[in-house]
Amino acid sequence: MSKESKTYKNMPKKIYIRTFGCQMNVRDSEVICGLLKKEGYKFTDEPKDADVILFNTCSVRQHAEDKVWSEIGRIARDRSGTVPVIGLIGCMAQNYKEKIFERAPNVSFVVGPSDIHKIAEIIEKVLGISKQAGTVPKKRGQSPFVKGQSPKSGDSPFFLRKIWETDGSIRPEEIYHTGFYEDKEHAYVVISEGCSNFCSYCVVPYVRGGLRNRNYKDILKEIEEAIEKGITKITLLGQNVNAYQCDGINFVTLLNSVNSLKGLKEFSFITSHPKDTSTDLFKAIADLEKLKKYLHLPVQSGSDKILKLMNRGYTRKFYLDLVDNYRKIVKGGILTTDIIVGFPNETESDFEGTRNLLEEVRFNAAYIFKYSTRPHTEATKLDDNLPLEEKEKRHGEILELQKKISKSKNER
Ligand code: 5AD
Ligand code: SF4
Repeated sequence: MSKESKTYKNMPKKIYIRTFGCQMNVRDSEVICGLLKKEGYKFTDEPKDADVILFNTCSVRQHAEDKVWSEIGRIARDRSGTVPVIGLIGCMAQNYKEKIFERAPNVSFVVGPSDIHKIAEIIEKVLGISKQAGTVPKKRGQSPFVKGQSPKSGDSPFFLRKIWETDGSIRPEEIYHTGFYEDKEHAYVVISEGCSNFCSYCVVPYVRGGLRNRNYKDILKEIEEAIEKGITKITLLGQNVNAYQCDGINFVTLLNSVNSLKGLKEFSFITSHPKDTSTDLFKAIADLEKLKKYLHLPVQSGSDKILKLMNRGYTRKFYLDLVDNYRKIVKGGILTTDIIVGFPNETESDFEGTRNLLEEVRFNAAYIFKYSTRPHTEATKLDDNLPLEEKEKRHGEILELQKKISKSKNER
């Protein structure tokens, strides 16, 4: 082997990572970057310079997945000649597993959200680098390659060159302690993973698993480590943060502990579920001086019939009472929400219920989505019976209404 090629081989490999979807994915990408940095990889903002391209993906709506499929295709076209290794990770990886390779043959490996700690070793394997990874946690001294290494008999030889890891359950705690945060001042801190609510439209419990709470001592330790690195603002993350429970510590107790951490200036949390939201939480928002006076409380619909079909576990009245309570206790508190329009069987009168709930509550902001059928979910059993034009019409109407409300609130 010539000297030049040897030098080239020893050069650090460059990674490009693109994140789709929610803040949980943003944090997962940071976790991955932290683990890969420890192994000596470099990062680039240019896909064309990358040896490895990672897509951290979202499955919450069809549209989010469509964007990823088209990006994979685009990258392949742009990089004809020098072919990068492409890895697809996150919720789509879990949703489609090895089927990804059939639709996107240029993808080399697929890693689900509960297997992200294995990524460095997988990349090492795919790139053919023989270095012993020291920092990737392994269970009971085993190789992490439990799946994808030995395809089932009958699999085509095509699969022999592919790796897929989608069987993980518990993330090793160490992955949250690499100290890698995108921002110098602000950090996302995961307090719980997954969700056990099974809202009938939502793919999250299927791709991210049931609710798992991190130990509060580990959470506080991570925040303290982040503060030592100069972080002053924190967002606590989870699909349903107010269901947090660990060794007698609930979410409100956790907020109190975070509030008392020296060096922390400000913190907030997302996302809350109305059925787990209590007066105690509102009091904490009002009283804890570092906690932002801000609550994101997804209502999804203003119709009791639709809320029931969505398996949300509360009624319109329950939600409106919560809002009253919040506004009484948290004076001047910001309130935002999520809405889904065009859920199966949503009549004009159900939709009117959502419209007048928005008029009544006057949220500071609302994120409005058209219903999208998701695999595995209960709602797939219902006929997705609203034509796309009707969903689009309702979506446009609610967007327009909320735009007016947000504008008039901001002018005051
Ligand atoms: N279709 C449309 N919107 C959805 N959301 C979740 N699942 C779906 C779906 N199948 C929305 C909800 C949730 C937000 C994160 O995404 O409003 O609160
Ligand atoms: Fe999905 Fe409902 Fe869990 Fe939110 S609470 S992640 S919408 S199942």
